[in-house]
Amino acid sequence: MGLGKKTIDDENYAGKRVLVRCDFNVPMKDGVITNDNRINAALPTIKKLIADGAKVILCSHLGKPKNGPEAKFSLAPVAVRLSEKLGQPVTFADDDNVVGENAKAAVATMGNGEVVLLQNTRFRKEETKNEPAFSEELASLADAYVDDAFGSCHRAHCSTAGVTDYVKDTAVGYLMEKEIKYLGNAVNDPERPFTAILGGAKVADKLNVISNLLEKVDTLIIGGGMAYTFLKAQGYEIGKSLCDDSKLDYCKDMMAKAKEKGVKLLLPVDAACIKDFPDPIDAPVDTVIVPVTAIPADMEGCDIGPETMKLFAD
Ligand code: 3PG
Repeated sequence: MGLGKKTIDDENYAGKRVLVRCDFNVPMKDGVITNDNRINAALPTIKKLIADGAKVILCSHLGKPKNGPEAKFSLAPVAVRLSEKLGQPVTFADDDNVVGENAKAAVATMGNGEVVLLQNTRFRKEETKNEPAFSEELASLADAYVDDAFGSCHRAHCSTAGVTDYVKDTAVGYLMEKEIKYLGNAVNDPERPFTAILGGAKVADKLNVISNLLEKVDTLIIGGGMAYTFLKAQGYEIGKSLCDDSKLDYCKDMMAKAKEKGVKLLLPVDAACIKDFPDPIDAPVDTVIVPVTAIPADMEGCDIGPETMKLFAD
């Protein structure tokens, strides 16, 4: 399958200021990165740009800051880890307004092959609203833009989408290229039997995905928080479990579509339930395992149970 997109291999970026949107939304605990897979995944693109002699300006979001800057969502620890992995300094432009004095000065003085990391793009409230002014500010730092943020590219935000209104030289990085090729082949030319597994909290985020997958797969497994909306649509009581009430009819339609297409739609048959999520989130918590027909009214399902694990694994 052709990618249909310009990749960073189509260009030599020598001397250019290249803004690279990465997905450095890494898990953190008390300011320490607990899993750096996403940093590793970004390295091939960053190294290619360094090798070209580009001025590499990295940006990303981290977490979901609600009201602007919050110290716990600073990308500072990512700059340190990245620098260790690259074996060269990564200048952290610590501006609460992301494109501030530090960022502008760092970019103005950086040499070819050097790397600057901007502060969390979500420190600017405009980011998630895709407001043009912030997109333009980001673009003002760069001659070219590279999107390598596979985990975030479904979001129409300033740093993932809006910025391309102002930077015309755009391409996808190696991670995006790999994932697009892989997904494209998996979905358009699959080996059969073809099973897809979906999770996540909201049915609303997956409307087109579910309907499209039902055209292609032999089996669709639905887990995660969204499974409870499907279970409720089937008429089960789901207690305090997550539910997208506005999508109950949609779930019914999708179950009918699966039947009509001969697709096996697998939902959980049992659930691990809790009274409340613990605080902190990784503290021990009491769970009870119940069939999905018997979720207690005062509890919420937080995971699949052993029977479901077996069903899905089979
Ligand atoms: C993710 O971790 O799923 C991506 O980084 C996107 O993060 P978001 O859901 O906060 O936009």
